[in-house]
Amino acid sequence: MRRSPLAWFALLLVSVASIVVQAQTAVPAPYKDVRLAPEKRVADLLSRMTIEEKASMLSGAGWMESAAIERLGIPAIHMADGPMGVRSWLGSSAVTSAANPPIKVETTSFPAGVTMAASWDTELVGREGQAIAQEVKALGRDMILGPTVNINRVPLWGRNFEGYGEDPYLSSRLGVAYIKAVQAEGVIPSVKHFAANNEEFERHRIDAHIDPRTLHEIYLPAFKAAVQEADVWNVMSAYNKLNGTYCAENATLLTDILKREFGFKGFVISDWGSTYSTAGTVNAGMDLEMPGGAPMKAMLSRPATQLSGNSGGWLEADKVLAEVKAGRITEATLDDNVGRILRVLFVSGLFDHPHTAGGEVDTPAQQAVARQGATEGIVLLKNAGSLLPLDATKIHSIAVIGPNAAVARTGGGGSSLVRPKHAVTPLDGIREHSVPVTYALGVGMEGENPAQDTAEARAKLLQEAVSAAAKADVAVVVVGRYAKLEAEGFDVKTMDLPAGQDELIQAVEKANPHTVVVLNTGDPVTMSKWLAQTPALVEMWYGGQEGGHALASILFGDANPSGKLPVSFPKKWEDSPAAANYPGQNLKVNYAEGIYVGYRYFDTKNVEPQFPFGFGLSYTSFAYSGLAVTPGKVAGNQPVQVSLKVKNTGARAGAEVVELYVHDGHAKIDRPVHELKGFRRVELKAGETKTVQFTLDRAALSYWSPDKKDWVADPGTFEIQIGASSRDIRLRAPLELLQ
Ligand code: BGC
Repeated sequence: MRRSPLAWFALLLVSVASIVVQAQTAVPAPYKDVRLAPEKRVADLLSRMTIEEKASMLSGAGWMESAAIERLGIPAIHMADGPMGVRSWLGSSAVTSAANPPIKVETTSFPAGVTMAASWDTELVGREGQAIAQEVKALGRDMILGPTVNINRVPLWGRNFEGYGEDPYLSSRLGVAYIKAVQAEGVIPSVKHFAANNEEFERHRIDAHIDPRTLHEIYLPAFKAAVQEADVWNVMSAYNKLNGTYCAENATLLTDILKREFGFKGFVISDWGSTYSTAGTVNAGMDLEMPGGAPMKAMLSRPATQLSGNSGGWLEADKVLAEVKAGRITEATLDDNVGRILRVLFVSGLFDHPHTAGGEVDTPAQQAVARQGATEGIVLLKNAGSLLPLDATKIHSIAVIGPNAAVARTGGGGSSLVRPKHAVTPLDGIREHSVPVTYALGVGMEGENPAQDTAEARAKLLQEAVSAAAKADVAVVVVGRYAKLEAEGFDVKTMDLPAGQDELIQAVEKANPHTVVVLNTGDPVTMSKWLAQTPALVEMWYGGQEGGHALASILFGDANPSGKLPVSFPKKWEDSPAAANYPGQNLKVNYAEGIYVGYRYFDTKNVEPQFPFGFGLSYTSFAYSGLAVTPGKVAGNQPVQVSLKVKNTGARAGAEVVELYVHDGHAKIDRPVHELKGFRRVELKAGETKTVQFTLDRAALSYWSPDKKDWVADPGTFEIQIGASSRDIRLRAPLELLQ
């Protein structure tokens, strides 16, 4: 059949069109092109999104999920609570196994943040972050809500156990290690809670008043380091107000400081139910409100939620769109918020490779990290007459006593508490050694079992403990708190041990002079009633599921204690620097102690703590020598090398944490007597010597000047101090800053 020229032309057109269509389908949209820079992909994707789609991304879709946009292939971010492992939680987004009916997943319970901080082992914290991120992926989640880097301002903060102690430098180093390791696995961390969440008292209403210098020197450095050194992908804003404005709508905090001053390129999420406005929140730089959808509504409808001041639902799409329409939110702002979330989806790889569940959790490798953390974090506080380590060949009986002996108190309460498959109690751990063990409760844990609380029951329990102690060669009394006395959501009532525990220690010590007291707490406790009579004292903190193994290995000397306190232990509550300004009045708390937090206060104002910051004993001894600071005179930002030798002078292998403090006696402004600016954990065989090196820069010499609104180092002579604790400075050398 012959075709007319017109038919030929039509055929040609159809062919060309089909080639064009094929070409179009073959070339993916630029935002799908993994070779393009994330910024280019973000710009392309934003240009394809409707304003409704953009608005829909500012609030969560569930308790732990952000909103997905299927049309464009934008995945939801599946979150999981942390930071001490992956928490399986109840509710619509519970991480469950595939069983039918689904059961809650049990994951590795890692030691609390304060325990990891007591190890001063950044490499180990990195391995912990990696292990947790691998569990996150194994469960098909994408994000871990940690680390917590809020500073321990008062010994009563209910969440002290989650954080890394009182010092901003230590918190920064550990936070950075955790974040880098999590991100290296393609998992999104969330450094929290930004900022100044330092008490749980009225946490949804309290207004923390903090001067700019104190903020920059104490409460912000760990967040700044997370941004500038780890390029952190996410920051969680705090529940509280800061200087009069809720953190989630605090433009000074989120935009001026975090995004402009620090250069944060990731996105900010709200803490769960911490928003109070729509335009104010979006415009302040809060990018994603959590939680969202039905779980958020259910949460807000609970009377307890309303009573507490918890609030949310402000960034739902219709509310955001109404504000855009009214001109109170610009599309450029919306683009910035959404663009930040998209950028992290690209940078993390989640956009291109969503995590699929099905991996293993609680593997032997993960358990090994948990155990190492629990062991390295244990701090030996007293060891008179070298009662420890216990010699299993010489001891014929041990009485293990106390409300924390036969229960694994793995962590404090709240969103960080992980439910493990199994957890080792102190009693279990001790029983694994070949010495006969007797057990006595001694006293019920306050509030746990009313039947143990009658006068009669108490007398009987105490008597049993005393008689067990009297018959044994050694008594180990494990005391402390538990997840209902030390938790998120409320502060610890008192620095004293829970009811009856002081009396238990006193009675056991009377019955047996070879008594080891073990503290299983996240905070310092008062010890005045028994410490003088206590030969050996161990702080085991909350050790996660392996706490019992860790404790036993320290008690029997299989491991040599190397932990040091990441927080000063005051003798009594009144001695703690913020005692007079806590919890505040009329919902306002003045941080009137300013920069004098922890050892900055005790060491500068000459207040004797019970145990100083950085303190911890070993079964061996270490000698420090040969401090060299080169060059001794520097200008500008010239780096300074500091080196010294540490020798293990005892008979056992051990690890020493060497601490570097900078003393500035000439500044134009009042400064603490010294500040931690370096530390190293060094493993040494018996008799071995190693050289320890630090590099200092100008930042290590600087303070934050309220006049200049910047970091300043005043020329003059500084002193470099090397210590085994903040109060045990062993070596000193001058360093001159010329200009
Ligand atoms: C806590 C956060 C936690 C979030 C989600 C909040 O109450 O403050 O730390 O990540 O809940 O569970």
